[in-house]
This record gives sequence, C-alpha cells and structure tokens, in this order.
Amino acid sequence: MTVNLRKIIESALAKSNMPGEMHPLQLELETVISSLLQISRIDIYLEEERVLTDIQLKEIETKISRLINGEPLCYIIGHTQFRDIILKTGPGALIPRPETEQIIDVAARYIKNTSFVIDIGTGTGAIALSIAKEFPQTKVIGVDVSSEALSYAIKNKEFNKIENVIFKINDLCSGFPSDSFDIIIANLPYISEEEYNDLPSSVSCFEPKLALTPGKTGLELIEKLVEQSKSVLKSNGCIILEIGYKQGKSVKEILNNANCFKKVEVLTDYKSLDRFAIGEKR
Ligand SMILES: C[S@@+](CC[C@H](N)C(=O)[O-])C[C@H]1O[C@@H](n2cnc3c(N)ncnc32)[C@H](O)[C@@H]1O
Repeated sequence: MTVNLRKIIESALAKSNMPGEMHPLQLELETVISSLLQISRIDIYLEEERVLTDIQLKEIETKISRLINGEPLCYIIGHTQFRDIILKTGPGALIPRPETEQIIDVAARYIKNTSFVIDIGTGTGAIALSIAKEFPQTKVIGVDVSSEALSYAIKNKEFNKIENVIFKINDLCSGFPSDSFDIIIANLPYISEEEYNDLPSSVSCFEPKLALTPGKTGLELIEKLVEQSKSVLKSNGCIILEIGYKQGKSVKEILNNANCFKKVEVLTDYKSLDRFAIGEKR
C-alpha cells in the first residue's frame, strides 16, 4: 500500500488536539515511525510516497495511538540509551532517567579493580550493566524484587554482551552474608505518597508504582537498606544512594544515625540539586 508518512504525522498531531509544527509530539511520532521502518527521521519527509505492507501500516497506527494515549516513547519503541549502552525497556520496569547516569561517576571514585558491587533495585539493569561494562575487572550483582523488571535486566545483559554481572531476585540485601560487598549502590523508589499523587499521568499510569514509591515518606526503603548495609558491607566499603532533591538532609541524618559510616556526604546532580548520598563504612 502506498502511504504518505508526513500526512500520517499531521493527522496524529491534529488528533492530539495540539497541532502545530513545533509540538514535542512531532519528534516522538517521527522517532516511532523511523525506528519501526528503520529509516532516518529526515527520510520520512524526503520520500513523499512510500510503499508499506498492511502489517507495517497497522503497527504504525497502533504505536501512534499508544503515543497519543500518553504512553512513554521508550515503552513504545522498546529501548532507551543509558550512558553508552542501549537498554531494552517496556511496561513493568522503570525507564532509566538521565539524572541517574551520574551515579556511575560517583561510584568511579570508590571502585577498585576487584571491587564486588551490588546494585539494589536494578530495574532494567542500567546501573549494574554500566558499572560492569565501564569497569570490566569488577564483579557486579544486580537485584530486584520484581521478576518483570529483572527479565529486562537479563535481556539487557545478553543484548550488550556483558559478562561480569549477574542478576537475582532479592528483597534489598536480605540473605547475603556479612562483609560481602565493597560497594552498595541503589536507586530505590524514593517518592513520597503525596508526590506520587502529583506525578504526571505519563509516569503514574504507565510506570510501575513499585519502582516509584516505597510508602508515605519516600524514605522507607532507604532506611531499611542503610540498616542492612551495616552488616553486608565490608569495612571501608561504601554505600551510594540516589535520593530525591528534597531528601539530602534526611538521608544524611539516616546515615549518620546508623553509627557506622564516616565521610557522609550529599552530592548534587548536573542541575545542582541534591541527588546522591554517600557514606563509607568505618
Ligand atoms: C527507581 S527504580 C530504579 C531502577 C534502576 N535502578 C534505574 O536506576 O533505572 C527502583 C527499583 O527498585 C525495585 N525495588 C522496589 N522495592 C525493592 C526491594 N524491596 N528490594 C529490591 N528492589 C526493589 C523496583 O522494582 C524498581 O525496579
């Protein structure tokens, strides 16, 4: 069937009730079409009439309606980029956020050749796989309570051909022997119940609640992990946490009150917001 891709985009923009050349949805529509047909975005406009199979056209229409319905682009195209790796993504696992990429640079300060690193709440495996790839001498384990999320991490390990990492279903660090790890790194759910209710629907309606909020204060899992890390971290090992931008003071207090950590610090992200908390085990 001969179709005009430009017209398909224009009609989808009109249906979204916000037509206009500069609409951000236009870029997403172009990305969906170009990734599906494996052409560049500019090719959409260079070839006015294009022959597509019925299946291709149906697939374009289905993906466009998902986009108009507010579903995140990364779920629809099925992948995203995190640092220099491509990660498969989809419903059931949180889409890795750009601000999380910086946690690898924070970890780089502490990683030594033979470090044993655990990534708690690994999701698609973004942090675990990046550490394993960028520091090939390390041994990395990624754990998550969600088997659905973990299935993406396992696929991403295979897709990126990264060997020095394994993934396992686990609740935080429970069950690991004492003095197991040199580095605990975690981007756990940290959004409070109140903040969760204010999230845009593109997040709350599509991404798993389990990956976003741990309960009323947002600090519940961080508190639990800090307590567990006192035993499973080796001495001089360190804990590195991604935190909410309003949680710097509270998380610093949690780490200091654990009476186990020195050099407790809160670091800011590229937007100068509090984003990471670290502590070294005494
Ligand atoms: C904010 S997401 C982070 C995902 C990934 N690390 C990233 O940065 O993109 C939090 C992850 O923690 C997992 N999680 C929630 N509770 C957990 C628990 N008790 N133990 C382990 N993982 C947990 C969720 O399933 C989710 O995948």
